[in-house]
Amino acid sequence: MKAMVLLLIVVFGLTALAGCPSNGGHGGAPFKSDPRHVAMGKQLYAAYCAACHGATATGGVVGPDLQASRFKYGKNKTAISQSILKGRPGGMPAFEAHLKPDEVTYLAEYLLQLH
Ligand code: HEC
Repeated sequence: MKAMVLLLIVVFGLTALAGCPSNGGHGGAPFKSDPRHVAMGKQLYAAYCAACHGATATGGVVGPDLQASRFKYGKNKTAISQSILKGRPGGMPAFEAHLKPDEVTYLAEYLLQLH
């Protein structure tokens, strides 16, 4: 009987692990964007970012190309989130007072899957 209980605990443990989000939350796992996040990121981008970075994020009068293969401050979720939250000295405004943490994540995911 004891063995049965142990087995159940192991099985439940594994199920819980398998239920982890697949959006790059695991250290070292390749980045994979969630289509729902990307769709929301796209809307947020149009509202807050397109004026400077262009409607298709290829750069505008003020903001640099966000489809570039390399970003000045790093092209990964952490660096992009920092750029959005804190701003950057060359004219990128800080958005931490305007966007929720989730919204910043959606924007980063949207930008990362552009190219
Ligand atoms: C007022 C114009 C303006 C707006 C609005 C704006 N940006 Fe920027 N953004 C800039 C400028 C200018 C830079 C370049 C900053 C630098 O080089 O220091 C920049 C830089 C960035 C970078 C860093 C790029 C790199 O090469 O590392 C990211 C990411 C970014 N913006 C994303 C966004 C997102 C997402 C939004 C909308 C929430 C947004 N920006 C809104 C002007 C803007």
